[in-house]
Amino acid sequence: MMPGNAFDNADLTGADFAALASLVREHTGIAMHEHKRVLLQGRLRPRLRTLGLARYGDYIARVRADRAEVQAFINLVTTNDTAFFRTPAVWDYLERDFLPGWVAQHPQRTLRIWSAAAASGEEAYSLAMLCSGFQARAPQLTFSITATDIDTAVLATAATGLYEGRTAQRFADAHPELARTHFTPEGGALRARPELRAHVRFGEHHLLAPWPGGAQFDLVLLRNVLIYFDEDNQQRVLGQVHAAMAPGARLILGEQESITRIATPFEFEQAHVYRIRQEHA
Ligand SMILES: C[S@@+](CC[C@H](N)C(=O)[O-])C[C@H]1O[C@@H](n2cnc3c(N)ncnc32)[C@H](O)[C@@H]1O
Repeated sequence: MMPGNAFDNADLTGADFAALASLVREHTGIAMHEHKRVLLQGRLRPRLRTLGLARYGDYIARVRADRAEVQAFINLVTTNDTAFFRTPAVWDYLERDFLPGWVAQHPQRTLRIWSAAAASGEEAYSLAMLCSGFQARAPQLTFSITATDIDTAVLATAATGLYEGRTAQRFADAHPELARTHFTPEGGALRARPELRAHVRFGEHHLLAPWPGGAQFDLVLLRNVLIYFDEDNQQRVLGQVHAAMAPGARLILGEQESITRIATPFEFEQAHVYRIRQEHA
Protein backbone atom coordinates (compact mmCIF):
# COMPACT_ATOMS: atom_id res chain seq x y z
CA MET A 1 0.00 0.00 0.00
CA MET A 2 1.08 3.55 -0.54
CA PRO A 3 2.14 5.63 2.46
CA GLY A 4 -0.03 8.36 4.04
CA ASN A 5 -1.70 10.79 1.72
CA ALA A 6 0.16 9.91 -1.47
CA PHE A 7 -3.10 9.49 -3.33
CA ASP A 8 -4.39 12.92 -2.44
CA ASN A 9 -1.33 14.43 -4.08
CA ALA A 10 -1.89 12.57 -7.31
CA ASP A 11 -3.06 15.14 -9.85
CA LEU A 12 -3.87 14.18 -13.35
CA THR A 13 -1.24 15.71 -15.63
CA GLY A 14 -2.01 16.85 -19.16
CA ALA A 15 -0.13 13.87 -20.63
CA ASP A 16 -1.96 11.37 -18.42
CA PHE A 17 -5.27 13.01 -19.22
CA ALA A 18 -4.52 12.69 -22.95
CA ALA A 19 -3.66 9.00 -22.54
CA LEU A 20 -6.82 8.36 -20.53
CA ALA A 21 -9.01 10.31 -22.98
CA SER A 22 -7.56 8.16 -25.74
CA LEU A 23 -8.45 4.98 -23.79
CA VAL A 24 -11.95 6.33 -23.17
CA ARG A 25 -12.38 6.88 -26.89
CA GLU A 26 -10.92 3.49 -27.77
CA HIS A 27 -13.23 1.59 -25.43
CA THR A 28 -16.44 3.64 -25.49
CA GLY A 29 -16.26 6.01 -28.46
CA ILE A 30 -16.80 8.91 -26.06
CA ALA A 31 -14.87 12.11 -26.79
CA MET A 32 -13.45 13.44 -23.56
CA HIS A 33 -12.24 17.02 -23.78
CA GLU A 34 -9.82 18.89 -21.54
CA HIS A 35 -12.61 20.52 -19.50
CA LYS A 36 -13.49 17.04 -18.19
CA ARG A 37 -10.07 16.61 -16.61
CA VAL A 38 -11.19 17.30 -13.03
CA LEU A 39 -14.26 15.12 -13.49
CA LEU A 40 -12.17 12.24 -14.77
CA GLN A 41 -9.70 12.63 -11.93
CA GLY A 42 -12.56 12.56 -9.40
CA ARG A 43 -13.97 9.38 -10.90
CA LEU A 44 -10.69 7.50 -11.18
CA ARG A 45 -8.96 8.52 -7.97
CA PRO A 46 -10.93 6.10 -5.74
CA ARG A 47 -10.11 3.30 -8.19
CA LEU A 48 -6.39 4.03 -7.96
CA ARG A 49 -6.73 3.93 -4.20
CA THR A 50 -8.55 0.58 -4.32
CA LEU A 51 -5.87 -0.87 -6.56
CA GLY A 52 -3.06 0.57 -4.45
CA LEU A 53 -1.69 2.63 -7.33
CA ALA A 54 -0.11 6.03 -6.65
CA ARG A 55 0.16 7.38 -10.18
CA TYR A 56 -2.29 7.70 -13.06
CA GLY A 57 0.51 6.41 -15.27
CA ASP A 58 0.38 3.10 -13.36
CA TYR A 59 -3.36 2.97 -13.83
CA ILE A 60 -3.06 3.67 -17.56
CA ALA A 61 -0.61 0.75 -17.83
CA ARG A 62 -3.07 -1.42 -15.91
CA VAL A 63 -5.99 -0.60 -18.22
CA ARG A 64 -3.80 -1.28 -21.26
CA ALA A 65 -2.68 -4.65 -19.91
CA ASP A 66 -5.71 -6.01 -18.08
CA ARG A 67 -8.96 -6.72 -19.92
CA ALA A 68 -10.87 -7.04 -16.63
CA GLU A 69 -9.81 -3.53 -15.66
CA VAL A 70 -11.13 -2.20 -18.97
CA GLN A 71 -14.71 -2.93 -17.90
CA ALA A 72 -14.17 -1.28 -14.50
CA PHE A 73 -12.71 1.72 -16.36
CA ILE A 74 -15.69 1.90 -18.75
CA ASN A 75 -18.09 1.76 -15.82
CA LEU A 76 -16.30 4.66 -14.15
CA VAL A 77 -16.00 6.97 -17.15
CA THR A 78 -19.58 6.75 -18.40
CA THR A 79 -22.22 9.19 -17.16
CA ASN A 80 -25.46 7.42 -16.31
CA ASP A 81 -27.97 10.15 -15.40
CA THR A 82 -31.51 9.11 -16.19
CA ALA A 83 -35.05 9.23 -14.80
CA PHE A 84 -38.44 7.62 -15.10
CA PHE A 85 -40.52 9.27 -17.86
CA ARG A 86 -37.68 11.67 -18.66
CA THR A 87 -38.82 14.49 -20.97
CA PRO A 88 -42.64 14.32 -20.68
CA ALA A 89 -43.18 15.48 -24.28
CA VAL A 90 -41.63 12.22 -25.51
CA TRP A 91 -44.06 10.12 -23.45
CA ASP A 92 -47.02 12.22 -24.65
CA TYR A 93 -45.93 11.58 -28.23
CA LEU A 94 -45.56 7.83 -27.64
CA GLU A 95 -48.95 7.53 -25.95
CA ARG A 96 -51.00 9.82 -28.17
CA ASP A 97 -49.35 9.44 -31.51
CA PHE A 98 -46.90 6.56 -31.91
CA LEU A 99 -48.73 3.72 -30.12
CA PRO A 100 -52.22 4.31 -31.60
CA GLY A 101 -50.71 4.62 -35.09
CA TRP A 102 -48.53 1.57 -34.72
CA VAL A 103 -51.33 -0.65 -33.35
CA ALA A 104 -53.68 0.44 -36.16
CA GLN A 105 -51.08 -0.41 -38.81
CA HIS A 106 -49.77 -3.65 -37.23
CA PRO A 107 -52.66 -5.36 -35.46
CA GLN A 108 -50.94 -8.76 -35.51
CA ARG A 109 -47.31 -7.91 -34.79
CA THR A 110 -45.25 -7.60 -31.63
CA LEU A 111 -43.91 -4.08 -31.20
CA ARG A 112 -40.16 -4.28 -30.68
CA ILE A 113 -38.58 -1.46 -28.73
CA TRP A 114 -34.93 -0.75 -28.04
CA SER A 115 -33.84 1.39 -25.14
CA ALA A 116 -30.28 1.94 -26.36
CA ALA A 117 -28.00 3.46 -23.70
CA ALA A 118 -30.49 2.38 -21.05
CA ALA A 119 -28.32 3.24 -18.03
CA SER A 120 -30.02 1.96 -14.82
CA GLY A 121 -33.23 1.02 -16.64
CA GLU A 122 -35.70 3.78 -15.73
CA GLU A 123 -36.42 4.45 -19.41
CA ALA A 124 -37.02 0.76 -20.19
CA TYR A 125 -39.39 0.32 -17.24
CA SER A 126 -41.18 3.55 -18.21
CA LEU A 127 -41.71 2.02 -21.65
CA ALA A 128 -43.03 -1.19 -20.08
CA MET A 129 -45.46 0.79 -17.92
CA LEU A 130 -46.60 2.88 -20.87
CA CYS A 131 -47.22 -0.13 -23.11
CA SER A 132 -48.92 -2.11 -20.31
CA GLY A 133 -51.24 0.85 -19.68
CA PHE A 134 -51.93 1.16 -23.40
CA GLN A 135 -53.06 -2.47 -23.50
CA ALA A 136 -56.22 -1.40 -21.60
CA ARG A 137 -57.18 0.58 -24.74
CA ALA A 138 -55.70 -1.84 -27.25
CA PRO A 139 -55.57 -5.39 -25.85
CA GLN A 140 -54.14 -6.64 -29.14
CA LEU A 141 -50.86 -4.81 -28.41
CA THR A 142 -47.97 -7.14 -27.66
CA PHE A 143 -44.53 -5.69 -27.10
CA SER A 144 -40.96 -6.54 -26.14
CA ILE A 145 -38.33 -4.19 -24.80
CA THR A 146 -34.59 -4.67 -25.22
CA ALA A 147 -32.46 -2.41 -23.04
CA THR A 148 -28.71 -2.17 -23.51
CA ASP A 149 -25.73 -0.23 -22.24
CA ILE A 150 -21.96 -0.45 -22.28
CA ASP A 151 -21.76 -0.04 -18.49
CA THR A 152 -22.20 -3.41 -16.77
CA ALA A 153 -22.60 -1.89 -13.29
CA VAL A 154 -25.70 0.11 -14.21
CA LEU A 155 -27.09 -2.87 -16.12
CA ALA A 156 -26.80 -4.97 -12.96
CA THR A 157 -28.83 -2.34 -11.07
CA ALA A 158 -31.36 -2.20 -13.90
CA ALA A 159 -31.88 -5.96 -13.82
CA THR A 160 -32.70 -5.90 -10.10
CA GLY A 161 -35.40 -3.30 -10.72
CA LEU A 162 -34.63 -1.75 -7.33
CA TYR A 163 -34.73 2.04 -7.15
CA GLU A 164 -34.00 4.17 -4.14
CA GLY A 165 -33.34 7.77 -3.19
CA ARG A 166 -34.24 10.67 -5.42
CA THR A 167 -35.06 8.70 -8.58
CA ALA A 168 -37.65 6.55 -6.72
CA GLN A 169 -39.06 9.51 -4.78
CA ARG A 170 -39.49 11.68 -7.86
CA PHE A 171 -41.19 8.88 -9.71
CA ALA A 172 -43.55 8.05 -6.82
CA ASP A 173 -44.43 11.75 -6.41
CA ALA A 174 -45.09 12.30 -10.11
CA HIS A 175 -46.80 8.97 -10.87
CA PRO A 176 -48.21 7.54 -7.61
CA GLU A 177 -50.68 5.27 -9.37
CA LEU A 178 -48.02 3.71 -11.62
CA ALA A 179 -45.68 3.31 -8.68
CA ARG A 180 -48.39 1.44 -6.74
CA THR A 181 -49.37 -0.74 -9.69
CA HIS A 182 -45.94 -1.73 -10.97
CA PHE A 183 -43.62 -1.53 -7.93
CA THR A 184 -43.56 -2.86 -4.40
CA PRO A 185 -42.11 -0.78 -1.54
CA GLU A 186 -38.94 -2.26 -0.05
CA GLY A 187 -37.71 -0.25 2.92
CA GLY A 188 -37.53 3.26 1.51
CA ALA A 189 -37.01 1.89 -2.00
CA LEU A 190 -39.23 0.65 -4.82
CA ARG A 191 -38.78 -2.64 -6.61
CA ALA A 192 -40.27 -3.31 -10.03
CA ARG A 193 -42.75 -6.18 -9.84
CA PRO A 194 -41.78 -9.38 -11.66
CA GLU A 195 -44.55 -8.83 -14.27
CA LEU A 196 -43.00 -5.47 -15.19
CA ARG A 197 -39.47 -6.86 -15.21
CA ALA A 198 -40.60 -9.68 -17.50
CA HIS A 199 -41.23 -7.15 -20.30
CA VAL A 200 -37.60 -5.99 -20.39
CA ARG A 201 -34.47 -7.86 -21.44
CA PHE A 202 -31.23 -6.15 -20.40
CA GLY A 203 -27.92 -6.76 -22.13
CA GLU A 204 -24.50 -5.32 -22.83
CA HIS A 205 -24.01 -3.60 -26.16
CA HIS A 206 -21.51 -1.08 -27.53
CA LEU A 207 -23.33 1.40 -29.76
CA LEU A 208 -20.47 1.52 -32.24
CA ALA A 209 -20.84 -2.22 -32.89
CA PRO A 210 -23.43 -3.70 -35.26
CA TRP A 211 -26.62 -4.85 -33.58
CA PRO A 212 -26.54 -8.67 -33.82
CA GLY A 213 -30.31 -9.07 -34.24
CA GLY A 214 -30.64 -7.40 -37.65
CA ALA A 215 -33.26 -4.81 -38.65
CA GLN A 216 -35.76 -5.63 -35.95
CA PHE A 217 -36.77 -2.59 -33.91
CA ASP A 218 -39.89 -0.52 -34.53
CA LEU A 219 -38.97 2.12 -31.98
CA VAL A 220 -35.51 3.11 -30.73
CA LEU A 221 -34.85 5.47 -27.85
CA LEU A 222 -31.29 6.74 -28.15
CA ARG A 223 -31.42 9.56 -25.69
CA ASN A 224 -28.72 11.63 -24.02
CA VAL A 225 -25.81 9.61 -25.32
CA LEU A 226 -24.97 11.15 -28.73
CA ILE A 227 -23.88 14.27 -26.84
CA TYR A 228 -20.84 12.35 -25.59
CA PHE A 229 -19.56 11.53 -29.08
CA ASP A 230 -17.88 13.68 -31.71
CA GLU A 231 -19.57 14.00 -35.10
CA ASP A 232 -17.73 11.05 -36.66
CA ASN A 233 -18.83 8.69 -33.93
CA GLN A 234 -22.34 10.18 -33.88
CA GLN A 235 -22.59 9.25 -37.54
CA ARG A 236 -21.22 5.76 -36.89
CA VAL A 237 -23.63 5.15 -34.01
CA LEU A 238 -26.56 6.40 -36.08
CA GLY A 239 -25.50 4.12 -38.93
CA GLN A 240 -25.51 1.10 -36.61
CA VAL A 241 -28.84 2.11 -35.10
CA HIS A 242 -30.34 2.56 -38.54
CA ALA A 243 -29.28 -0.97 -39.48
CA ALA A 244 -31.16 -2.27 -36.42
CA MET A 245 -34.42 -0.52 -37.34
CA ALA A 246 -37.36 -2.09 -39.18
CA PRO A 247 -38.97 -0.19 -42.07
CA GLY A 248 -41.20 2.62 -40.75
CA ALA A 249 -39.49 2.65 -37.34
CA ARG A 250 -39.05 5.81 -35.31
CA LEU A 251 -35.95 7.07 -33.52
CA ILE A 252 -36.22 9.23 -30.40
CA LEU A 253 -33.31 11.45 -29.37
CA GLY A 254 -32.64 13.49 -26.22
CA GLU A 255 -33.62 17.11 -25.66
CA GLN A 256 -30.16 18.50 -26.36
CA GLU A 257 -29.56 16.36 -29.41
CA SER A 258 -30.16 17.57 -32.91
CA ILE A 259 -28.75 15.63 -35.83
CA THR A 260 -30.00 17.82 -38.64
CA ARG A 261 -26.55 19.32 -39.27
CA ILE A 262 -24.85 15.97 -39.93
CA ALA A 263 -25.46 13.52 -42.77
CA THR A 264 -27.51 10.59 -41.43
CA PRO A 265 -30.17 8.20 -42.74
CA PHE A 266 -32.75 10.07 -40.62
CA GLU A 267 -35.01 13.06 -41.08
CA PHE A 268 -36.71 15.23 -38.53
CA GLU A 269 -40.38 14.46 -37.92
CA GLN A 270 -41.22 16.44 -34.79
CA ALA A 271 -39.46 17.49 -31.60
CA HIS A 272 -37.22 14.58 -30.49
CA VAL A 273 -38.62 12.24 -33.17
CA TYR A 274 -36.86 11.12 -36.35
CA ARG A 275 -37.87 8.74 -39.13
CA ILE A 276 -35.78 6.91 -41.74
CA ARG A 277 -35.36 8.93 -44.95
CA GLN A 278 -37.16 7.48 -47.93
CA GLU A 279 -33.92 6.73 -49.80
CA HIS A 280 -32.61 4.72 -46.80
CA ALA A 281 -35.83 2.82 -46.08
C1 LIG B 1 -26.72 9.98 -19.67
S1 LIG B 1 -27.10 8.27 -19.82
C2 LIG B 1 -28.64 8.32 -20.71
C3 LIG B 1 -29.64 7.32 -20.19
C4 LIG B 1 -31.00 7.32 -20.88
N1 LIG B 1 -30.86 7.04 -22.30
C5 LIG B 1 -31.70 8.64 -20.68
O1 LIG B 1 -31.78 9.43 -21.59
O2 LIG B 1 -32.18 8.88 -19.57
C6 LIG B 1 -25.93 7.77 -21.10
C7 LIG B 1 -25.70 6.27 -21.12
O3 LIG B 1 -25.01 5.95 -22.33
C8 LIG B 1 -24.13 4.87 -22.05
N2 LIG B 1 -23.09 4.80 -23.09
C9 LIG B 1 -22.04 5.63 -23.28
N3 LIG B 1 -21.29 5.22 -24.32
C10 LIG B 1 -21.88 4.11 -24.79
C11 LIG B 1 -21.58 3.21 -25.86
N4 LIG B 1 -20.52 3.41 -26.65
N5 LIG B 1 -22.39 2.17 -26.07
C12 LIG B 1 -23.47 1.96 -25.27
N6 LIG B 1 -23.81 2.77 -24.25
C13 LIG B 1 -23.03 3.84 -24.02
C14 LIG B 1 -23.60 5.20 -20.67
O4 LIG B 1 -23.06 4.06 -20.03
C15 LIG B 1 -24.84 5.76 -19.98
O5 LIG B 1 -25.51 4.79 -19.23
